[in-house]
Amino acid sequence: MSEALRVGIAGLGTVGASVLKILRDKGEMLTRQCGKQIIVTAVSARDAKRDRGVDFSAATWFDDPVELAKSNEIDVFIELIGGDEGPARAAVEAALKSGRHVVTANKALLAKHGVYLAKIAEEKGVLLNFEAAVAGGIPVIKALRESLTGNTVSRVYGIMNGTCNYILTRMWDEGISFEDCLADAQCLGYAEADPTFDIEGNDTAHKLAILTSLAFGTQIAADDIYLEGISNISLADIKAADELGYRIKLLGVALKTESGIEQRVHPTMVPVESVIAQVHGVTNAVAIETDLLGELLLSGPGAGGAATASAVIGDLADIAKSRPGFQHGPVFGTPAKALAPYKRAKMRAHEGGYFIRLTVHDRAGVFAAIAKRMADNDISLESIVQRQSANSQAEATKTVILVTHETTEAAVKKALEGIVKDGHATDKPQMIRIERAG
Ligand SMILES: NC(=O)c1ccc[n+]([C@@H]2O[C@H](COP(=O)([O-])OP(=O)(O)OC[C@H]3O[C@@H](n4cnc5c(N)ncnc54)[C@H](OP(=O)(O)O)[C@@H]3O)[C@@H](O)[C@H]2O)c1
Repeated sequence: MSEALRVGIAGLGTVGASVLKILRDKGEMLTRQCGKQIIVTAVSARDAKRDRGVDFSAATWFDDPVELAKSNEIDVFIELIGGDEGPARAAVEAALKSGRHVVTANKALLAKHGVYLAKIAEEKGVLLNFEAAVAGGIPVIKALRESLTGNTVSRVYGIMNGTCNYILTRMWDEGISFEDCLADAQCLGYAEADPTFDIEGNDTAHKLAILTSLAFGTQIAADDIYLEGISNISLADIKAADELGYRIKLLGVALKTESGIEQRVHPTMVPVESVIAQVHGVTNAVAIETDLLGELLLSGPGAGGAATASAVIGDLADIAKSRPGFQHGPVFGTPAKALAPYKRAKMRAHEGGYFIRLTVHDRAGVFAAIAKRMADNDISLESIVQRQSANSQAEATKTVILVTHETTEAAVKKALEGIVKDGHATDKPQMIRIERAG
């Protein structure tokens, strides 16, 4: 049996404590599988006295995670603190520079500094593994980085935020408003006290940026993503979508277009019969479309202590099994120095179908005027229906729902500007993109 692998863990919260418990409970099995023992020799968190539900008294305590990262007591540094700067960044950088392998679940850190950190790891010949950073327990990083090598990826899309999917699922299932669903999600611990990062799509954007780099061999561009959250999705939208045979999901989508790479996060209509429409509650799912495979869909728990720790343990076991002296594969599937510059496709050029919901004055000629604005912009309609608005009080209004055939975003925006300019709309038009999904 080879020498034991010595591990230091910084961050003993939801994920860190779960990792400790798995290493305690499954130590024998892991030793057999990896051909060596995995021992936690050092730990760090803020509060040394807090009960974490697991005994780590045999490990050396470090107040400073950076000191732990550089310690001679460890071969692998596991970062489970979180945050794109501060101690997490400093400790990961210090560990890599001192030649330690790193495992992290930190999407924010990788979305911002992933390429920089990958360069250090590759120069030092160590591994930087991050399976848990995207879609928790779902092995999507390994799928893109290793299993699909040789495939040409055309599109990656998915549900990557459990909080948003939980809210949209309950709105659809139970007809509860966005605000009430969010309050419940907070009570159940699915949503943070400040949920902005989740519901406005930033969390999904971080994960998408990492997947884009792996899928298309480009530099990570987390700040260059079209972003729209779910806070303006109303029950009226959910109901209209349902009647038309669609479900609304917050999707992160990355695809190759002629003008560059389109990265976008926004509420999306998907056909009710598609597999992704059946992904409910806090579950995550990632679809990968390639020339050799068609569409591959991976679905499962995207968060939670045990599920996320499962991915961390898998990454750790890869390090334990790796042979000393063998060159490790590149962190993002392509050597960091060879990642292509990211070229962003213009969102106005985005092509697809659109759902549009308009609240308009109940006057003669409005319906025809809307249809004309659409025709003037070469938009062909799959359906157009009107009905009395539910909450029209002072003045009679109507709701008009349109579904377009494939068109460009620029054309839809221009048509909607025209309708508003004509003075027909009483509220801001709602526009939701429709995504083709298998
Ligand atoms: N939770 C999930 O379901 C999930 C899923 C996927 C990815 N992740 C990622 O996993 C990472 C950890 O998430 P988590 O949910 O486990 O977070 P958490 O429960 O808030 O735990 C964070 C840990 O970091 C420690 N910490 C904070 N500042 C520190 C510092 N300056 N020095 C040393 N330790 C420090 C905290 O110490 P104290 O306990 O003493 O305060 C705590 O143990 C994040 O990057 C997150 O994005 C989490």
